Amino acid sequence: MDRTLIILKPDSVERGLIGNIISRFEQKGLKIVGMKFSRIAPAVAHEHYAMHKGKPFYDSLVKFMTSGPVVLLVLEGNNVIDVSRKMMGATFGYKAEPGTIRGDFGVSSAFNLIHGSDSPETAKAEVSRFFKAEELFDFNRALEPWIYDLSSGNPQ
Ligand code: RTP
Ligand code: MG
Repeated sequence: MDRTLIILKPDSVERGLIGNIISRFEQKGLKIVGMKFSRIAPAVAHEHYAMHKGKPFYDSLVKFMTSGPVVLLVLEGNNVIDVSRKMMGATFGYKAEPGTIRGDFGVSSAFNLIHGSDSPETAKAEVSRFFKAEELFDFNRALEPWIYDLSSGNPQ
């Protein structure tokens, strides 16, 4: 099973959208294997968005991401990176499709509620940036056989 890092950004927390957004992932059938409430330190935010260093929005992005508490989640599931990115929607709220998190809850470009890893390599680096091994949980949900067809031995 694949894993991805999700961040409910400071605007999600301030706007009282934590429960609503987490519910969407739960209802989709994705498994939460790590979760915490935290304030991202500036050095960690710089590292997390290093690929955008030098772009016009970089300084304000780091300021935004460190402006208040965030919820950090590690989700597990089949193709979880693609599935969660689709659920998030396009980067800017005013462009994101209705039915997506950004499309349903926001209209801003900068304040776009949520981050999700965009590849298996970044997911691995991002999960270990924010979670220690002992903060991630391996457990079996009783309803797993109703989320995936397990008859072949592999989740389908
Ligand atoms: P994220 O990394 O946060 O999951 O978002 P993303 O992949 O959809 O978008 P990305 O291109 O990686 O941009 C990272 C974050 O920077 C802010 N941004 N502002 N004003 C702008 O032109 C602009 N472009 C990007 C957004 O907060 C975006 O999520
Ligand atoms: Mg990105």
